[in-house]
Amino acid sequence: MNTTFKFRRITEHVHWVGAIDWNIRDFHGYLTNRGTTYNAYLILADKITLIDTVKAPFKNELLARIASIIEPTKIDYIVSNHSEMDHSGSLPQIIEAVKPEKVFASKMGTKALKAHFGLDVAPVENGGTLDLGNMALTFVETKMLHWPDSMVSYLDADKVLFSQDGFGMHLATSERFSDEIDRAVMEQEAAKYFANILLPYSPLVEKLLADLPGLGLDIEILAPDHGPVWRGDNIGWILGLWGKWAKQSPTNKAVIVYDTMWGSTDLIARAIADGLIEGGTSVELMKLRASHRSDVVTELLDAGAIIAGSPTINNNIFPTVADLLYYIKGLKPKNLIGAAFGSYGWSGEAVGQIEEKLKEMNVELAHEGFKANYVPDAEALESCRKMGKAIAKKCEVLSRTVG
Ligand code: FEO
Repeated sequence: MNTTFKFRRITEHVHWVGAIDWNIRDFHGYLTNRGTTYNAYLILADKITLIDTVKAPFKNELLARIASIIEPTKIDYIVSNHSEMDHSGSLPQIIEAVKPEKVFASKMGTKALKAHFGLDVAPVENGGTLDLGNMALTFVETKMLHWPDSMVSYLDADKVLFSQDGFGMHLATSERFSDEIDRAVMEQEAAKYFANILLPYSPLVEKLLADLPGLGLDIEILAPDHGPVWRGDNIGWILGLWGKWAKQSPTNKAVIVYDTMWGSTDLIARAIADGLIEGGTSVELMKLRASHRSDVVTELLDAGAIIAGSPTINNNIFPTVADLLYYIKGLKPKNLIGAAFGSYGWSGEAVGQIEEKLKEMNVELAHEGFKANYVPDAEALESCRKMGKAIAKKCEVLSRTVG
């Protein structure tokens, strides 16, 4: 058995045995600039238990880390907190290698694992416990955080909450604990993760955070399936950030997002930006061939305005802008005002199409859309500057009154 990869101790009984995916940059369409980790945890209880597995290509890394502590066939139980492939992809092979006495998942998890791999695993009840001999695991369903099957598991002996996707981030590091990592980096990656993965489920996040104290779980370690393990005052810090992001409280900030063919829509974007800045609103200007959709959504997390621009191409929105608008719509952002702009040659449908998409997202249009025929002249650019200034006023009001 390969034991090149070693475990990392988390608590007296819990050991990190996951995998570090240093090089992944595309996580189902999300730009993972700093890679990610697939965390799995081995509990050395009387009944030795593995919490989650890893993405399929990392099966040998997981097995090697387990083998650096114990012979993998000594594992009695596997608990699947979440059936998405980044945590269950290697489960069939791990079951084959380990031959555990039992595999557990939530009721929805049993269905998902059957559908994914044809596996028959045992369901656990919401609030139910699993006796590990000298300690116990308690299960709490967290439906839609991130999938319907999602649940968290609490280990009483070491006060560890295994939170699967909850409170995770895509961040590959040599360090395993959050207090060993720069908070600014973690905040950036945690925000990106929340914006791109959890945003549609913000009301459920708020409910979970409200319910958590009532569950009576004394949490000393918060152990997600991606990124660092939280301990000490970092636990309150990440819970607080999630609470803030779930509210989607707008700040006096506008995201101008667009693409351009021959530079005219780019000129308009810059003129609107100048007006916004003059009006006191902070601006992120993002051309879509320079900024990834997942970074745009991250910037929208605390924004008050989205101002989207596109040239008209073949009577339509430019493809990168259309892609972004569909992506944002699925993430159900709240508390945004918006506007549209773009250049055109002879038909000019894109601006109106963007406005329709913004309305579908419940974005309140804060200004009439701006269209420039071919190339905007000085007068047109002055109108754009005024448009930016007018939106700045509304964004400032929104930031004071909402959230
Ligand atoms: Fe990390 Fe929803 O999977």
